Amino acid sequence: EKVIRVGLLGSGTVGSGVVQVLEMNREQITERVGAPIQLKTVLVRDLAKKRPQLAGYQLTDNYEDILNDEEIDIVVELMGGLHPAREYMLQAMEHGKSVVTANKDVVAQFGKDMFAAAEKHGVDFMFEASVGGGIPIITPLKQCLTANKVTEIMGIVNGTTNYMLTKMTDEGCDYDAVLKEAQEKGYAEANPSADVDGLDAARKAAILSSLAFNTRVELKDVSVEGITKITPDDIDYAKSLGYVVKLLAVGKDSPEHGVDVRVHPVFLPKEHPLAAVNGVFNAIFVRGNAIGEAMFYGQGAGSLPTASAVVSDIIDVSRDIVNKAFGRIGCTCYEQKPMCPIEE
Ligand code: NDP
Ligand code: HSE
Repeated sequence: EKVIRVGLLGSGTVGSGVVQVLEMNREQITERVGAPIQLKTVLVRDLAKKRPQLAGYQLTDNYEDILNDEEIDIVVELMGGLHPAREYMLQAMEHGKSVVTANKDVVAQFGKDMFAAAEKHGVDFMFEASVGGGIPIITPLKQCLTANKVTEIMGIVNGTTNYMLTKMTDEGCDYDAVLKEAQEKGYAEANPSADVDGLDAARKAAILSSLAFNTRVELKDVSVEGITKITPDDIDYAKSLGYVVKLLAVGKDSPEHGVDVRVHPVFLPKEHPLAAVNGVFNAIFVRGNAIGEAMFYGQGAGSLPTASAVVSDIIDVSRDIVNKAFGRIGCTCYEQKPMCPIEE
């Protein structure tokens, strides 16, 4: 019987969640795939560090051990950052291994190379967890909504800043204290300025807009403003007028302006559906010319919710391996359509 073998790169917040989900749902996952999935080797930086959640698994601090292991079918990249994550993923595909990642930095900046490598080497490249944590949004855009011409995609796509803004609004919490809380809960990026400066949301906006509008939007094409300038006075002022402050990512595709992608804080009326999206929750609204409006909602960061998306990708790739049908739900890299210029 075929066993699907996985090499895991990184075992922090999301990596340890993946180990937990694979263990707690083992039986059901085996049934769904038609073969067992075995986590064979885990790449760590420091072999001496205590990692009780990885007891019983084979650890290495040398990526070659995973790359050159012919038994490993799938490489799951959960280290974060651009380098060496990008190179490791490309090498994995060159070695005939499919790749699953939650890394929006790489997808937003080097998605083109990743999709091309997957196509060239006949493997899968999956990134459901790169946007919206546990919320299914990449697969819906790649599969379920492709009948539509999508004209707008908008939402709250960063859990850390939404958690911060919610606590600052509802409990009057201090900015620095609540950022520290978000870091302790594992929501924030390794360098949390990516969250508060809006770059994480901008990367996600670039990924969503690329898929929604059949184009290629990169980080440099997105106009970005984070939440660092939001003061308690802004929050009180919004409240007194019946509004809440939210960090929104907005992508639009119109014949007049081309593709326009922005991330910035907004005053939202309390009655707006996105105003009720609080804490670490994210929500993404899509407007298509056949479906009309659709909204996707759930936990946008955190160990198990994000692992839910990663493991679902592992299951999809495993089904492809079992059925010898690679690239079934792959991604096309589109040429860039005209973009609305960024105002300085
Ligand atoms: P963490 O910082 O918690 O974990 C990263 C892990 O990768 C750590 O175990 C770290 O090792 C290891 N690592 C980093 N660099 C290397 C390297 N060069 N060689 C070997 N191991 C390395 O990050 P997260 O789990 O939070 O995030 C992982 C990815 O998932 C990122 O791309 C992030 O953007 C994305 N993501 C995160 C979400 C979240 O809620 N946290 C949600 C959605 C996506 P060590 O233990 O030694 O430090
Ligand atoms: N730092 C990110 C966030 C993790 O807070 O949304 C999920 O991508």
